[in-house]
Amino acid sequence: MEVPALPTIENARIPTDLDPDPQVLEIDLVAAETTLEFIAGKPAKALAFNGQSPGPTLYARVGDRVKVHFKNDLDEPTTIHWHGLRIEDSMDGAPRVQDPVPPGGTFEYEFTLPDAGTFWYHPHANTVEQIERGLQGTIVVAGPEEPQFSQERLFVLDDIRLRGNGTIAPFADAGMDIMHGRLGDTLLQDGRAEPLAGTIASGAIERWRIVNTSGARNMKLSLKGASWKVIGTDGGLLPDAWKKSRVEMTVGQRFDFEVRVDQGSTEPVQLISHVPTVQGDQVVDVPMVIGEYAIEGTVTPSEPEYPSVALPPTDVEAEVQEITLGAYATETEVVFTVNGMDGMHMEDLEFPQGKPVRLILKNEIGPYHPFHLHGQFFQILKRGNSIVKEPGLKDTVLLNGMETVEILTYFDNPGLWMYHCHIAEHAEHGMMAHLRVTPSP
Ligand code: C2O
Ligand code: CU
Repeated sequence: MEVPALPTIENARIPTDLDPDPQVLEIDLVAAETTLEFIAGKPAKALAFNGQSPGPTLYARVGDRVKVHFKNDLDEPTTIHWHGLRIEDSMDGAPRVQDPVPPGGTFEYEFTLPDAGTFWYHPHANTVEQIERGLQGTIVVAGPEEPQFSQERLFVLDDIRLRGNGTIAPFADAGMDIMHGRLGDTLLQDGRAEPLAGTIASGAIERWRIVNTSGARNMKLSLKGASWKVIGTDGGLLPDAWKKSRVEMTVGQRFDFEVRVDQGSTEPVQLISHVPTVQGDQVVDVPMVIGEYAIEGTVTPSEPEYPSVALPPTDVEAEVQEITLGAYATETEVVFTVNGMDGMHMEDLEFPQGKPVRLILKNEIGPYHPFHLHGQFFQILKRGNSIVKEPGLKDTVLLNGMETVEILTYFDNPGLWMYHCHIAEHAEHGMMAHLRVTPSP
């Protein structure tokens, strides 16, 4: 069968596909220590997939089969979790379902891509260090009717804590790093500290796929010199674009934007990250340019044709389940909790497949939590008592300090699934539990 080529995506790192069948993406993926330059000219010992961080981009179509021959060349066990993909739990990289791959070991990940969208992959073992040190990559899945753009670009936004010589700062597992997660002191774009740079055509209508892969940082983003609107979220395209000039993305979320440069515009297009910074006794958001695109050339804009998308209805009958996130301190440690206890000691929640459930997510403490659910999508209904407009299917939602967020989950994918705070320090200190979706007969 003739399959038309997928559009090229700037900054995607396309690996060699070992299978000539256009409906199979077969790759080798090796996790190993390597040397990377987060800051140009300053080599740092790091971890990477196939020597790259971000690792190779898995770029394929809905319905394609993905085969990943994974080899663990680290000196510690690991797994790979395909963040956002609604695949079988046996391939999800959750350590309770899949024994972590020992050093020198291999694992065959194999699954069919269920949904179009922008996704992420990363280890699910010793995640604080393994992700921060560089083990992560992106997944882009095209649907049967994707809109066409002048250009597509991929942005992996991250932060990292470096020493003056550009090497990764030691891990503390204490104090503020446990309370708030390890915030970096250096923003990374596509794995590098330098802002991205390039050109963009006047009149262009582009698609920008943005992933926040940081350990704990919410990214607040805006655009200068062009306009943008959100056209997709974690779970793919929206029915209608969401006009929002400044967008906050929590850890693990993805947003797809339509970016429009006016015809005849000469002003460079800047992607700006508003970074909370202590100034005196205040925290202010300081704008930092993380990507700058000079205008070069002109294209005659052609309107992208969006497929019609319907989100599952939200006004359905649904059971209610409360999940509280909290913490307590013992003499020796802080324990983050799910429903009052270390989530690893909690009994698995159980839900029947295909029955929507309203999850009331209550954050009972000050620090925020990016709440992530494996294997399912949900929609956000409420923050506090207010109905929110945060449209789209999600697998990750931000719970601000002391905030209650109500989401509607669909639980259409059976299996044993993790849910946890995506600040790995919180997760590894107890804010991580499992639920089971029992298959409908
Ligand atoms: Cu990004 Cu448990 O996941
Ligand atoms: Cu948390």
